[in-house]
Amino acid sequence: NLCFSVNLVILVLLAVAFLIIVQRNLLSLSDILHKENPAELSQNLHPDSGPRSGDEILVLITATEDRLGATMTAINSIYSNTKANVVFTIVTLNHTVQHLNAWLGESKLKSIKHRIVIFDPELLKGKISQDSNSVEASKPLAFARFYLPLYFPEAEKAIYLDDDVIVQGDIQELFETNLKPGQAAAFSDDCDSTSAKGIIRGAGNQNNYMGFLDFRKESIKKLGLRANTCSFNPGVFIANLTEWKNQNITGQLQHWMELNTHEDLYSKTLGDSVITPPLLIVFYKRHGAIDPMWHIRHLGAGNRYSFQFVKAAKLLHWNGHYKPWGRGAAFTDLWDLWYIQDPSGKFHPIRRHEDKE
Ligand SMILES: *[C@@H]1O[C@H](CO)[C@@H](O)[C@H](O)[C@H]1NC(C)=O
Ligand SMILES: *[C@@H]1O[C@H](CO)[C@@H](O)[C@H](O)[C@H]1NC(C)=O
Ligand SMILES: *[C@@H]1O[C@H](CO)[C@@H](O)[C@H](O)[C@H]1NC(C)=O
Repeated sequence: NLCFSVNLVILVLLAVAFLIIVQRNLLSLSDILHKENPAELSQNLHPDSGPRSGDEILVLITATEDRLGATMTAINSIYSNTKANVVFTIVTLNHTVQHLNAWLGESKLKSIKHRIVIFDPELLKGKISQDSNSVEASKPLAFARFYLPLYFPEAEKAIYLDDDVIVQGDIQELFETNLKPGQAAAFSDDCDSTSAKGIIRGAGNQNNYMGFLDFRKESIKKLGLRANTCSFNPGVFIANLTEWKNQNITGQLQHWMELNTHEDLYSKTLGDSVITPPLLIVFYKRHGAIDPMWHIRHLGAGNRYSFQFVKAAKLLHWNGHYKPWGRGAAFTDLWDLWYIQDPSGKFHPIRRHEDKE
């Protein structure tokens, strides 16, 4: 009898062990399945993919023909990770509209609320270099963020995002970033965040005003800015559009753009930065801050973070040379999760396994 019950106990233990092993295998199998089919994963987040209601979360993003895949991936990541009523305003150039519409017509993107707006290059006339080879002239859409109230004439609040980001958190959280009276926008400072440590080691004076503005110029001197003030990254921001209009932010930005074409006010340390300097001047000591986990950046400048850290971040930004759809970027697996193939076949992320073929 004793022998029998000992046997029974062993049998039960074996059965339990067996079940644990089976369950583990199933779990890792489902991991593999999700990895192989990330689109399925994103659908699972929204079994009820009906129309969304509630307060609109307004997001502005630009769409450039040669990196349209970036915009689509950013949009898909945002939409898939929230249940909020997010509405995208996609600013693009006329010749990209058709391509954009074809891509947005893909089944996995069809239910995304969006509005396509064509950027008017006339806005920049006399405010950027006349040379058609200049950085400014080649990237007109980068200036769209200066004209935010133009794209949301009725709204109180909006988010601007660069196209080389993905969002892993719920965009509603970012939207709820608190802005104090007098603050027209909130940015991520380059000194006090987790992101900052990398920059200081990296490229010289990138984390302060000196890296962006030429302090030898009279117009800059007259402002009385402290050259060692922390700069901020304008690739992600939340704006109070009422404040923006009250403070005539767009007018002020245009004034500095125009002055720069005559006086060459921006520092050349950072090569091609034409967007950050006027924003630094206009928002000097009068902007809010974004939760650091909502703007983990410099992913395009080498692999500085652990995978666990990057996985836990709410928003990833591949600013820097290495873009996640190109060669040599870090953490492309996370970007690939949200990429949806271009139905026209024009856009192709470069991946190592393809290089070998
Ligand atoms: C935009 O492109 C369409 C054809 O794709 C053309 O008919 C239209 O005139 C263009 N509009 C502008 C403002 O260039
Ligand atoms: C935006 O700014 C205006 C003017 O300061 C203020 O009345 C309003 O409450 C702010 N809105 C938000 C959403 O912060
Ligand atoms: C906005 O700023 C610009 C540049 O400083 C100025 O020319 C314009 O008159 C201002 N507009 C208003 C409504 O204050």
